Amino acid sequence: MSLSVTVVPTKPFKDQKPGTSGLRKKVPEFQQQHYTENFIQAVLDGGLSDRKNGAVLVVGGDGRFLCMEAANVIIKLAAANGVSRLIVGQNAFFSTPAVSALIRKGFEGRQIDGGIILTASHNPGGPRGDFGIKFNCDNGGPAPDGVTNRIYEITTKISEYRIVNDLQCDFTQIGRYEFNVEGRNFVVDVVDPVEDYVKLMQQIFDFDKIRQLLSGKLTGSRFKVLLDSMHGATGPYVSTILCDHLGAASEDMLRTVPKPDFGNGHPDPNLTYAKALVDRSKQGDHDFGAAFDGDGDRNMILGRNGFFVTPSDSLAVIADNIEAIPYFRNRRVSGFARSMPTAGAVDLVAKAKGMEIFETPTGWKYFGNLMDAGRMCLCGEESFGTGSDHIREKDGVWAMLAWLQILAERQTSVQNLVQMHWKKYGRNVFTRYDYENVDGSGANLLMNFMEAQMPAFIGRELSANNVKYTVASADNFQYKDPIDGSVATKQGLRFLFTDGSRFVFRLSGTGSAGATIRLYVDSYIPPGDSGRLFMDSQDLLKPLILVALDLSKMEQFTGRKAPTVIT
Ligand code: G6P
Ligand code: ZN
Repeated sequence: MSLSVTVVPTKPFKDQKPGTSGLRKKVPEFQQQHYTENFIQAVLDGGLSDRKNGAVLVVGGDGRFLCMEAANVIIKLAAANGVSRLIVGQNAFFSTPAVSALIRKGFEGRQIDGGIILTASHNPGGPRGDFGIKFNCDNGGPAPDGVTNRIYEITTKISEYRIVNDLQCDFTQIGRYEFNVEGRNFVVDVVDPVEDYVKLMQQIFDFDKIRQLLSGKLTGSRFKVLLDSMHGATGPYVSTILCDHLGAASEDMLRTVPKPDFGNGHPDPNLTYAKALVDRSKQGDHDFGAAFDGDGDRNMILGRNGFFVTPSDSLAVIADNIEAIPYFRNRRVSGFARSMPTAGAVDLVAKAKGMEIFETPTGWKYFGNLMDAGRMCLCGEESFGTGSDHIREKDGVWAMLAWLQILAERQTSVQNLVQMHWKKYGRNVFTRYDYENVDGSGANLLMNFMEAQMPAFIGRELSANNVKYTVASADNFQYKDPIDGSVATKQGLRFLFTDGSRFVFRLSGTGSAGATIRLYVDSYIPPGDSGRLFMDSQDLLKPLILVALDLSKMEQFTGRKAPTVIT
């Protein structure tokens, strides 16, 4: 039977501009008539352009509410738009890193032109939660600004979309499904979302050695691992890798069943939202802890007794021990990179190793070009993202395995490894204050007020709690991509002080309600300063935080006396 294409007239929605990481909105917005269809049509046209006809795409998401419905829409629109093949994870499920890996690997010898990922990452889900749609390019990475702008342009002018209404594809069962659409062949391959990713991890890491660490064969005592998948996408990957392959205890793998509403939780692996893991870790029964976000690309690393590893330090420790990971042996280890608000710990490692270091705007997409050009192989962000050039997304499970591999090699505790790192390089103390869901106009006023004041602050002395800081420079961060020369402006207000400390103000690009102001504060403690090297980060940074809050008139502009999340 041949299925026919219907052309449906539609009108633009004004709010379909993709943010830091795709289009993210509350679920009911995506449920408006034509809303999802419009955006998918724009993604197919703007994301694929002249490659749309005959294209091969990967489709899947983190299992949140609306994933199945959106996958259905994508299948019907892809069929109508001349796409030749979709590779869909069973139940429309894939972690974000697994999609990136599959795009890069190809499918049955075919090149893949991109992917559509259904996720709002670390934002809560459920009928009143968030949903999101993100387009990734043929390198496996999030679409760069040029592509998302093109998609957005189309959403502002769209007048019709193409759909095959009668096409029904049961993507709950693995298998190949073929359809005839007006004489063309359209194929949907429903695949196991876990298998290929696990194989990739086996190539990157020495699973035998990690298994020996966990069982106690390496050191004489068992190494207990406690992981929290927060009912997000990593559950099935974690169960397979940790329990089936590495012999970890299944009762130590928490919340591994993906749920549409993440069990009513907020699947963001930080000290606030992954508090359950932190509390369990503090009981002292486990040597290592890690949590992951909704779509599996973020990670938080803990040592025994809840010892918290800041993402900035995590990146630096992995960089310093990079040879422990088989993937990086016997190849040229190119440079490292971090996003601007991430503390500069990795810079010191790069310097010691004589390697290039890049400082990019917030957003994983800015790492892609550097990796594709072979200039950088390891990178991270303070927002709990760590990854390498094995794919073009950050990768929570990869980061956790990288730590286990390094710990197997070094045979020491997490805390000792980090503190030895500080003794060698000094410590880049870091904290982030988040003011979530504040009034949008107040947030903009604060940013405009600060930016206008900046020139006047240069050279001025500011103080709090009897500590003085002199402003060395202040600017709105701008980045010129060294590979394609593209320029990203207005990426965050930076105040740099003469002692190397700094703070940064930035508006979040991933929220879906109101605005979120982020304040990033960091300061450097030299290795010789043994009095302060191991002190609590909040105590160390208190004066600088007070200066930042005072300078920005945070309370006046937002009405907030305290942040919602402190990292
Ligand atoms: C997503 C991106 C990250 C980025 C983060 C920033 O997770 O994938 O690369 O660091 O958003 O979020 P924000 O809310 O600070 O814009
Ligand atoms: Zn994520």
